[in-house]
Amino acid sequence: MKPTMREGHEGTGPGVITPDGCAVELYERLPVGEEPDVVAAAVPAGARILELGSGVGRMTHALVERGFEMTAVDESAEMLRRVRGARTICGPVERLDLGETFDVVLLASFLVHTGDTEVRRGMLRTCVRHLAEGGCVLIQREGEDYHTDVPRERTDPAGFTVRIVSVEPLGDGVDSVHAEYVFPDATWTQTFRARPLTREQFEAALAEEGLRVDRYLTEDRMWVRAVPVSRG
Ligand SMILES: C[S@@+](CC[C@H](N)C(=O)[O-])C[C@H]1O[C@@H](n2cnc3c(N)ncnc32)[C@H](O)[C@@H]1O
Repeated sequence: MKPTMREGHEGTGPGVITPDGCAVELYERLPVGEEPDVVAAAVPAGARILELGSGVGRMTHALVERGFEMTAVDESAEMLRRVRGARTICGPVERLDLGETFDVVLLASFLVHTGDTEVRRGMLRTCVRHLAEGGCVLIQREGEDYHTDVPRERTDPAGFTVRIVSVEPLGDGVDSVHAEYVFPDATWTQTFRARPLTREQFEAALAEEGLRVDRYLTEDRMWVRAVPVSRG
């Protein structure tokens, strides 16, 4: 059965497309970058990590290899079918309630920039709800010029090109972003809704849900370690 697409999201190219327009076969091909190192450096060894929006396990697998105990959540069963070495949970992040807590909750892949403010609030509440005493939330934000440095492209050493073709304002602070991934034998596209957040807007969104920035983990401030406000 074809899943219902999220409003304003679509994808083209071979294989299954998820409700947010991602292609399962594309994510199987994308190499993992520095993300697992950033995560590993910010959390205790062997931590129990709840990863929200894991996809096929691009980051999950690298974190399993580093000795973390991973629970991977995604609303696409087709994505989760490719995850190895981790518990998997299928469903929307914004409504997740496992009745248990984790040392670390990971909200990567710019999910915090979802165009739908209610979905963002739901996702951040999910992070807080699943956080153990003394735990932290790791969030990956967009780069600061993500919506303005357009069009742009990057050719990966693995032999494919990623292109942000256009970013069109839809009103109410939300943009429609159109991306292309070009491989020698296949091309995928994704159109999705994203809300740019300045540092101030991002920190205010966290505060709304009782979180605060503990520290920015990378110089570009794209990776953030957040903790509950109640913790001094
Ligand atoms: C851009 S992909 C990134 C996957 C993975 N984090 C990675 O870096 O390879 C986003 C993933 O999040 C999932 N996703 C997006 N929004 C979601 C939501 N609200 N609830 C559950 N899964 C979601 C999609 O199905 C997709 O697998």
